[in-house]
Amino acid sequence: MLSTNKVIPHNQMQIDTAKFFRLNNTSRIRHKAVISLSDRSYSPKADDPRSDWVASVTAPAFLALAQTGIEVRDFCTIGTGAGLDALAAVEILKARNIIITDLHEDVVSLARHNIVHNTHQGDDLTVYAGVGDLLYPLEEEQFVLDLIYENLPNIPIYNDGSLKDGQTSSTFIADRSEEIPDFIHRYLVTLHYLALKQAYPLLRDGGHVLSSIGGRIPLEVIERLGEECGYLSEILTFTWKKQSESEEVIGGYAKWEQEGFGPFRFYPAQILEDTFESIEDVAAGAQARAIEHAISRHEMTAWEALEAMKSGVQVGHTVAVLDSVKRY
Ligand SMILES: C[S@@+](CC[C@H](N)C(=O)[O-])C[C@H]1O[C@@H](n2cnc3c(N)ncnc32)[C@H](O)[C@@H]1O
Repeated sequence: MLSTNKVIPHNQMQIDTAKFFRLNNTSRIRHKAVISLSDRSYSPKADDPRSDWVASVTAPAFLALAQTGIEVRDFCTIGTGAGLDALAAVEILKARNIIITDLHEDVVSLARHNIVHNTHQGDDLTVYAGVGDLLYPLEEEQFVLDLIYENLPNIPIYNDGSLKDGQTSSTFIADRSEEIPDFIHRYLVTLHYLALKQAYPLLRDGGHVLSSIGGRIPLEVIERLGEECGYLSEILTFTWKKQSESEEVIGGYAKWEQEGFGPFRFYPAQILEDTFESIEDVAAGAQARAIEHAISRHEMTAWEALEAMKSGVQVGHTVAVLDSVKRY
């Protein structure tokens, strides 16, 4: 549990949440949210929603889930960053008990502040904030959850880098001691796999995990992730985003590709924009394969994407949100 109330140096930005989450209006959260960020908080891309995870991936996935009639009272996000994913859950899914985790105390403390100060007073909302790895901060608690969301990073850190510096922990992951199946290791989805494993005992029967996974890897690998952990899994939404932090991310994938991992897939952002335009940027999971097939001739490996980026091409990637349901 978050332990201190000390004042943390921070910057602020204002976000029009209705516009950002593609809603007509908001009822449970502030329309003009003021978001406080430390140097280590994953920075919302307020001026370019197509580069932002919550705007382009999380909110549409929550809207798709809300349409199924699901009831989400107890919601947890692993690696919340600025806390915007939790605000989206409060507004779109009407979540009431919010649990957030992230690696750094300053990040978690400000995320908690952002949630509390951007929701309307009087609404019956609780926020539990835990600092640490994945779901370990919840170990001593007795939560039974309806939905766990995660958008964790993928790329193993190299060159003695430290996850404590700046926004490094939003892109890179440390070496892990757990046993990881080969196909998960090869496609660099270790944290998604570990989150799914740790989530299982915390969910009520029929509870869901939504994993946001950059579609830089085969769709079969994404679907197998949930099945490997005992869930009933399918892709809920399939969308795209501009590659954010592009030098670090594409460079990171290129490095691991050279070591025999992947290969990974990127596309010119313009191709993705044109392809997804007619479906307002978000497809149902069932359309994912047909879309991939349609854009396959534009596919670039990480190395090719790095070269394209250097010559001025804006690079993007698809994103699948995997919905994994705990069996009864
Ligand atoms: C790509 S950012 C996503 C932030 C936010 N959920 C969003 O969608 O905008 C990934 C977040 O996961 C956090 N993170 C990375 N590794 C983690 C771990 N092992 N346990 C918990 N959080 C982690 C990072 O610090 C970062 O805030």
